[in-house]
Amino acid sequence: MIELLLTGISQLVTAPGPGPRRGLAMGIVSVTQDAAIAIDAGRVAWLGPRSEWSGHAKETIDLGGCAVLPGLVDPHTHAVWAGDRLADFEARSAGATYEEILSAGGGIWHTIRQTADKTCEEMATLALPRIEALIRSGATTIEVKSGYGYSTEAELRMLEAIKLLATRTQARLVPTLLIHICPEERSARDEYRDRICRELIPEAARRGLAVAVDIFVEQHAWSAEDAAIILACSRSHGLNVKLHTEQFQRVGGLELGLTLGALSIDHLEACTPEQCRAVGASSTVAVILPGVSLHLGLAAAPGRALIDAGAAVAIGTDLNPGSSPVFSTAVAMALAMRLNGLTAQEALTAATVNAAAALACMEAGRLDVGLPADLLVLETSDWRDLPYTLGKNVVKEVWISGQRQNI
Ligand code: NIG
Ligand code: FE
Repeated sequence: MIELLLTGISQLVTAPGPGPRRGLAMGIVSVTQDAAIAIDAGRVAWLGPRSEWSGHAKETIDLGGCAVLPGLVDPHTHAVWAGDRLADFEARSAGATYEEILSAGGGIWHTIRQTADKTCEEMATLALPRIEALIRSGATTIEVKSGYGYSTEAELRMLEAIKLLATRTQARLVPTLLIHICPEERSARDEYRDRICRELIPEAARRGLAVAVDIFVEQHAWSAEDAAIILACSRSHGLNVKLHTEQFQRVGGLELGLTLGALSIDHLEACTPEQCRAVGASSTVAVILPGVSLHLGLAAAPGRALIDAGAAVAIGTDLNPGSSPVFSTAVAMALAMRLNGLTAQEALTAATVNAAAALACMEAGRLDVGLPADLLVLETSDWRDLPYTLGKNVVKEVWISGQRQNI
């Protein structure tokens, strides 16, 4: 007999999967009124209109007329860091830019100085409440990047911290090795790049500490030429590739990502209409990060134009202390509607099956027979309240593998 039946679901809302869903197909979601979901051994055993359920369950829980959605997928976070960036925030409010602070040795460099000497235990302890905040906001699968280590040992320790963190939460954490910033001086940079390819990437792959490598391609970070070398090395060790690119300047990162068939290219605030068309013609997922536009006052990534060009768009929080102190995946969805021009349906697709595709986690962000029962119960009967509401959490319950989380 089935373990559990959830009834009293006003709307069961899913984006068809597996992703990625491209272009205007992102706007199609399925809404089942007065639905039920049967759960057995942590997985969905049946789902559909309540009136069509004919099985028997040991226990039935009536959700009392609430909307249910798949657990959200946050495909881009830097949830492990130490220290804060309050001084940057003040400096920016007095007129300094993020890029000026970074090139003067602050910003990401400051967080590296605060983080690189921390133990795994210290880092995991700092990160856990951030992951819990994302879960409360609806995320059940969360990507977490390293990137504040800046040495082989410290980056590996960050990845070990993510592995430790994963033992302390039921959320599914997806670890990414982020090759973040580099020395300005050419020979020091070449030496650092070679060490990354010789030591860091092979060791991270050998220990199974990352499933992908991400690189920040930007005027004050890596060039597209260096990124090509690092990402080729990543590929040769069986790791997927992703890029932080077109955030401030266009230095060839987007084109490199498309040429390589990257899993995702993330940011894209500076993406041109022509580049949108190129992304639309590719298989790479475009991850937009509206929290960055809000926090740094940058132009928003052209989410609408990307979708109209046929691209698969995903949404992430980019949770990090410098460019996006956004601790809610639901808020990222809400901002994508306001800042990037997505519809509610597109935002749901972007935060579920497309975000899962950006992580190559094809089971995540979906509710279907045989898949893990990762779901959200909202406190309202209309699912659109999730991206509509700002400043109040409308997520009432979060279930991961059929277990209600203590949020
Ligand atoms: O996604 N742009 C580069 N990296 C992060 C920010 C990290 C930080 O500022 O600490 C981002 O915006
Ligand atoms: Fe980022």
